[in-house]
Amino acid sequence: MEKLAALYPAHITELNRRVAEICARENLAGLVIHSGQPHRQFLDDMDYPFKVNPHFKAWLPVVDNPHCWLLVNGKDKPQLIFYRPEDFWHKVADVPTAFWTQELDIKLLTKADKVAELLPDQVGQWAYIGEHIDVAEVLGFTARNPEAVISYLHYHRATKTDYELVCLRQANHIAVKGHLAAKSAFYGGASEFEIQQSYLAATDQGENQMPYGNIVALNENAAILHYTALEHQAPAERHSFLIDAGASFSGYAADITRTYAFEKNLFGELITAVDVLQRQIIDMMRPGVKYVDLHVATHQKLAQILIDFNLANGGVADLIESGVTAAFFPHGLGHMLGLQVHDMGGFLHDERGTHIAPPQAHPFLRCTRTLDVNQVLTIEPGLYIIDSLLASLKADKRSQMVQWNTVEQLRPFGGIRIEDNVIVHNDRVENMTRDLGLND
Ligand code: GLY
Ligand code: MN
Ligand code: MN
Repeated sequence: MEKLAALYPAHITELNRRVAEICARENLAGLVIHSGQPHRQFLDDMDYPFKVNPHFKAWLPVVDNPHCWLLVNGKDKPQLIFYRPEDFWHKVADVPTAFWTQELDIKLLTKADKVAELLPDQVGQWAYIGEHIDVAEVLGFTARNPEAVISYLHYHRATKTDYELVCLRQANHIAVKGHLAAKSAFYGGASEFEIQQSYLAATDQGENQMPYGNIVALNENAAILHYTALEHQAPAERHSFLIDAGASFSGYAADITRTYAFEKNLFGELITAVDVLQRQIIDMMRPGVKYVDLHVATHQKLAQILIDFNLANGGVADLIESGVTAAFFPHGLGHMLGLQVHDMGGFLHDERGTHIAPPQAHPFLRCTRTLDVNQVLTIEPGLYIIDSLLASLKADKRSQMVQWNTVEQLRPFGGIRIEDNVIVHNDRVENMTRDLGLND
């Protein structure tokens, strides 16, 4: 924590620098960033779990308090309007005293609808950044999430400050504890639901603190890319386990996947091959490399694995061009990671918002940027037996390129994904996930 406190002032200086630049360019007095408001469940008197505006948590590690506001202009000390109602029904946030309070001027707000009294006089010259456009309108903001400002912030968000890198390492550190616990629960015979409970207990985080719904999949469930059902009953036979689960730290996310074979077998060898591929791709990362090129290189290496494991036959180029590799690996290689699991800005070519779409052959790729120093990304190649995708190969002449016997043999195992979180440095790549103890 000492380290965080020491790095935080420079983080605020950098965010202020960004705000000053974009406000000067857009002729704005500053930004008013809203933490958000609770969302009520339909015909109910309860709210959904609160999810804070990522632009708000970029400035301070407060993720659980709605009706807060930040006033930033890049020149003055940022002002925080901190919501602290009189409320005997709910837990009221304590007056903050943590290290970050020294970098902000804090005013307390006791009634959410009285915020206008604490906002700038000339609110029309400030831009509202937040989800509640109707509230912004009532308060007199004419600039609401201006595209030029949002694009600028999203583009620059890809470059993490040293404070953010510490937060991301800490999120990985927590998630690794969960992964190690989940692995032993799997080998101990637990159900998906029980594995999830082991994971949450080891991370000391609740389900709503997870940055995304954990994927805890036994056997063929591992072939369902976004499988979030949790079976309470352990399966009669145990073949494989895929877990894609993260953790949060001060608003920053980890996003890690591992796959395990229950016994020594062909599937276990295939996991090793995908693991080697994943490390080779990570070794190719350096400033100046295009993420799309890493994705294409993954398809080339994957085609060779399909050939080596007698899953497919033909040349590497043919297997890629005909869509055979895409049927086994239908998602993107990964994405930017930070305040959001799929951090915004992955398609932005410049700070003005020029968009680079993924290549037509790879529509699910979530990042088309050129790598640069202090970017944080996931690398998550996969190989799955997905019947609906393989059926389209079976239906035409590509059927001859697939070795259906091996497909049959691997079907009960579902699939493989291996996902690490890495930082691009000038002279090396830092694999946070493996460095922090998740080595297989
Ligand atoms: N867990 C979501 C993803 O890997 O992108
Ligand atoms: Mn993931
Ligand atoms: Mn991911």
